[in-house]
Amino acid sequence: MIRADGLAKRYGGTTAVDGLSFDLKPGVVTGFLGPNGAGKSTTMRMILGLDRPSAGSVTVNGKAYRDLPAPMHEVGALLDPKAVHGGRSARSHLTWIAQAGGIARKRVDEVLDVVGLTEVAGKKVGAFSLGMYQRLGIATALLGDPPVLILDEPVNGLDPEGIYWIRTLMRKLAAEGRTVFVSSHLMNEMEETAEHVLVIGRGKLIADMPIAELTRGSGRSHVRVVSPQVAELVEGLHAIGATVTAEEDGALHVVGMDAPEIGDLARVMGVGLHELTPKRASLEAAFMDITRDSVQYSSGAPEVAEPLRALTPEGK
Ligand SMILES: Nc1ncnc2c1ncn2[C@@H]1O[C@H](COP(=O)(O)OP(=O)(O)OP(=O)(O)O)[C@@H](O)[C@H]1O
Ligand SMILES: [Mg+2]
Repeated sequence: MIRADGLAKRYGGTTAVDGLSFDLKPGVVTGFLGPNGAGKSTTMRMILGLDRPSAGSVTVNGKAYRDLPAPMHEVGALLDPKAVHGGRSARSHLTWIAQAGGIARKRVDEVLDVVGLTEVAGKKVGAFSLGMYQRLGIATALLGDPPVLILDEPVNGLDPEGIYWIRTLMRKLAAEGRTVFVSSHLMNEMEETAEHVLVIGRGKLIADMPIAELTRGSGRSHVRVVSPQVAELVEGLHAIGATVTAEEDGALHVVGMDAPEIGDLARVMGVGLHELTPKRASLEAAFMDITRDSVQYSSGAPEVAEPLRALTPEGK
């Protein structure tokens, strides 16, 4: 259980985190989403007592991190996977941390096995790939068998097998009743992994809701339509008030009507349909909608095509 109350952090003139309040519940994976520079890592560092809040507070299991009697047994974290001495082996790195935290040596072999590093446990960490560093960081977080896990971009650098593995691991850890808080840039990946999301932009909370609710509320749900009589169909769709744009391959992108309504309209008009596909908004699209005003570094690319007027007769 993690609770933030009016949490804020300023660095000189920059407000990195701006009055965040939230409760993270055990038993689910909570995704932490936000554009670059939104304040995700800063928030995680404050939870872990590595940064002091400028205002507000945050507690883990009811206590500030520094007041936890046995922090490694209460919260495990992966922040910077490369913060490891390159001259050590994975096993000696973990053994050193286990000793410092009063954790039995045999736990080191257990966590090496969980993250799939047993075979390379004796190799120098300096030669590891980014994905192997991530696995070692997760092993470190799991050492104390903590009920709370905080993982900053753990999927970074993992190959597809690694992504599948970590997704399964996070879900399993949550199913065991743990609080799992994980940041990511990969929206579609979060859609597969998290049940709940916190979205922030410029340090402020934008959304705190189940993923399903976030995608349902997005205006991006649409129907993809392919017809040999495009002009006629567009005219009919416009007459009923639907918004129609063209997709790259020439298919119609229809907002404001569902697939059965479009199918019925086409039948009444005597227009053929070659494709009629309902498309639910992806988390990625929903995310872009709600964070558009708070993106610090934007490519400036247009996100929605201009309404399709060229295919309708003049004056319509
Ligand atoms: N130690 C620091 N000193 C000064 N400014 C900082 C410091 N750490 C972070 N910031 C600033 O605070 C803001 C939030 O940064 P933070 O790293 O928390 O964002 P983030 O959401 O983790 O971004 P990313 O997705 O790129 O990892 C940024 O504007 C960043 O430049
Ligand atoms: Mg970050």
